[in-house]
Amino acid sequence: ATNRTFTMIKPDAVQDGNTGNILADIEKAGFRIIALKKTRLTPERAGKFYEVHKERPFYNDLVTYMSSGSIVAAILEKDNAVAAFRELIGATNPAQAAEGTIRKKYAKSIEANAVHGSDSDENAQIEGDFYFPADEQF
Ligand code: CMP
Repeated sequence: ATNRTFTMIKPDAVQDGNTGNILADIEKAGFRIIALKKTRLTPERAGKFYEVHKERPFYNDLVTYMSSGSIVAAILEKDNAVAAFRELIGATNPAQAAEGTIRKKYAKSIEANAVHGSDSDENAQIEGDFYFPADEQF
């Protein structure tokens, strides 16, 4: 079924000038852009976005990193969007990401891993709504 996922291009990739390259890879893979914006998270909002990871040892560093620079947020649509997008971006740790994936090409480390991708349809909805009101989703 055609459905949606949510992504952020993270501060490392935006800083490196890879926003356009990553969006091009996403569109070439057949995703349609439903919503798109460049913005910056405060530490408080980054903490809220990643609240599910609050008890993890990497949480504080992740919040600091994700609020350290601009990000680009997007809602994407495709058949089986969540799984298809996770395949396109590759493993969380770029050292383990398959050849040709976005993280293999653009990520620096397990933290500065270029992009986020939702892990379920339910989280895709929650995460997309975190950034975009209904009248900004087309
Ligand atoms: P993301 O897919 O956005 O979800 C959680 C983020 O935490 C992850 O990508 C990485 O940026 C970051 N992170 C840092 N260390 C780890 C780790 N050991 N395991 C998983 N995620 C990590």
